[in-house]
Amino acid sequence: MSQSEAGRATREPPIWKGRITFVMAAAGSAVGLGNIWKFPYIVGENGGGAFVLVYLACILLFGVPLLMAEIGLGRATRANAFSAFKQLSARSKASSQWKWVGGLGIVTSYLILSFYIVVAGWCLYYFVVTVSGDFTQSGQTLTQADTGARFDGVLASPVLLIVASTTFLLTVFLIVASGIKNGIEKSVNWMMPSLMVMLVLLAIYSAQNGMFMKAFDFLFSPDFSKLTLESVLIAVGHSFFTLSLASGSMVTYGAYMNDSASIGKTALAVAGIDTMVALTAGLAIFPLIFAHGLEPTSGPGLMFISLPLIFEQMPFGQIFGAAFFFLMFIAALTSGVSLMEPTVAWLEQQFSMKRLSAAFLTTVSLCAMSLLSAFSFNIWDAKWLFGMSFFDGLDFLTANVFMTIVALATALFCGYCLKPEQLQQMFGHQSRIIPVFTFSMRFVAPAFVGLMVYAAF
Ligand code: PFF
Repeated sequence: MSQSEAGRATREPPIWKGRITFVMAAAGSAVGLGNIWKFPYIVGENGGGAFVLVYLACILLFGVPLLMAEIGLGRATRANAFSAFKQLSARSKASSQWKWVGGLGIVTSYLILSFYIVVAGWCLYYFVVTVSGDFTQSGQTLTQADTGARFDGVLASPVLLIVASTTFLLTVFLIVASGIKNGIEKSVNWMMPSLMVMLVLLAIYSAQNGMFMKAFDFLFSPDFSKLTLESVLIAVGHSFFTLSLASGSMVTYGAYMNDSASIGKTALAVAGIDTMVALTAGLAIFPLIFAHGLEPTSGPGLMFISLPLIFEQMPFGQIFGAAFFFLMFIAALTSGVSLMEPTVAWLEQQFSMKRLSAAFLTTVSLCAMSLLSAFSFNIWDAKWLFGMSFFDGLDFLTANVFMTIVALATALFCGYCLKPEQLQQMFGHQSRIIPVFTFSMRFVAPAFVGLMVYAAF
């Protein structure tokens, strides 16, 4: 038995069928509300092309190397994030306290899911409303004030938020509880291709019905005068979030990756798909925004206030509107599954729990946690962290604080604690990339994270 096999978890988890399935699952995790809801509005708020350029640089300079690191940590141990750090620190004779990096990653994914399901619930609600023709057949011409009031009404209703987010959460539960092979593998294999086809169709529709060239210019002609330090930081933070880094998800998915697949190529494929989807989402949304004389800077409401208004006024708006919100729902679903998996895998391996019980426990506790986020839009208006609502505070705490800590610690762990032979073993035949990888882990990733921390203070 090799050293790596001896150090692996006793109950070996199942392995994804082939490299493509892993790419689908990992891209399913990466492609989510971050790409379709958040990316277009942060590009809009931060001035367009120059921001996109900085974002692409972040993905390449440290996003891809960190993604390789996380997949590699998982595959080398075939364990959940907590045990992965524990086993590897033991093998490299480093402090066992590194396990808390994996632990914090699991906590991060759990907390993100508790508010992610609320936004996913909005998508579900808007899908139902658009399918039923509520927007398009209202009889009168809608204004932005009407769709704004509608969105405010959604936020003001605790019951609606709870029903929508719980429905989403139960769907995630069903997939995760069915297991890696029967649940996650089967669902991503049809959801991801359908998502991409739908997105391309929407972009074509939008190019024909909107101002494509203006949108293209907005996204791809950089105007550096619009770039601020704050926008650079938003780009750094978003690159962690969009690639599902620093949250235990990619370590956990890596644990199910087969030994022969190349980690470098796979990480590049995942980051490539994620970036293409984000840019295509921009190309699907901005032509319509410009054609209807709306502002690209309207923030989180871009999707739920501006788009319903546009779909109401367009030919086949009901069909395309419904397709759009369904697309967001599917994207959120594959990410939601990857956000639940780290906790479930940890419960299974740490406490020898059955998958069904682990998924059930996680779902019930998340249901309770998500109430706090849902209530913070209506009946609970307490300001929680630095004057933010619970929802905003949790978003800030996970995406800006926890993810930063986990990303930095993961980079330092791989850069300074792991021995050359361990890296060799992690990357197998791809050992030529080790010097570049180590350089990124030791210097590039910490420099970017350090910049974030410095600017935050
Ligand atoms: N990458 C997902 C998105 O862009 O929506 C969000 C996410 C999924 C973050 C899984 C973290 C994670 F572990």
